[in-house]
Amino acid sequence: MINLILFGPPGSGKGTQAAKLVEKYGLLHISTGDLFRYEMGNDTPLGLEAKSYIEKGELVPDSVTVGMLRNKVEANPDVEGYIFDGFPRTIPQAEALDRLLAEKNDAVSKLIMLDVADNELVKRLLVRGKTSGRKDDSDESIIRNRIEVYKSETSPVFDYYAAKGQAVKVDGIGSIDEIFSRLCAEIDPLQS
Ligand code: C5P
Ligand code: MG
Repeated sequence: MINLILFGPPGSGKGTQAAKLVEKYGLLHISTGDLFRYEMGNDTPLGLEAKSYIEKGELVPDSVTVGMLRNKVEANPDVEGYIFDGFPRTIPQAEALDRLLAEKNDAVSKLIMLDVADNELVKRLLVRGKTSGRKDDSDESIIRNRIEVYKSETSPVFDYYAAKGQAVKVDGIGSIDEIFSRLCAEIDPLQS
């Protein structure tokens, strides 16, 4: 199995690249943000709870996010591996993911961070907000809050996996295909 964490700040291109990686490697793409938006779109209790955080650019509490992620993984046991996009976003989420995979006698293969500077992120998200219909993409102060939350709560997850020799950074600036090639150069060696 290849269990990949596609990591990076909001707007760094995780979703875009995940879609291409799924095609090439046949992994299951799990985006916790997409899962939340699906729940919000259906006005489920989970969606309503998540919405209050997401619309401020804050993180949904770990227990809620981890429970949702676990359900998705357990509903799809027979896959070649997973691409985790937007998860883990905190150290407790990373610990929970490690435990969940360990229960399956498995582990994270690699964390790949897409490295993009703040100003570029804000630009990309404002452009995306014109068509994504996402409230959290259309307000610059919410976008900046998401970037701050990434720095304070999420970036330690990089160090957590780096300490285990499992984290790498890839330049997230360039064309979609250029960035994809950089990712493939990190993933190909994981295939056995
Ligand atoms: O990953 P994405 O940018 O689509 O996530 C959108 C929002 O969903 C985040 O800004 C955050 O409010 C929420 N989220 C979260 N915890 C996660 C993933 C997403 O709170 N692990
Ligand atoms: Mg995304």
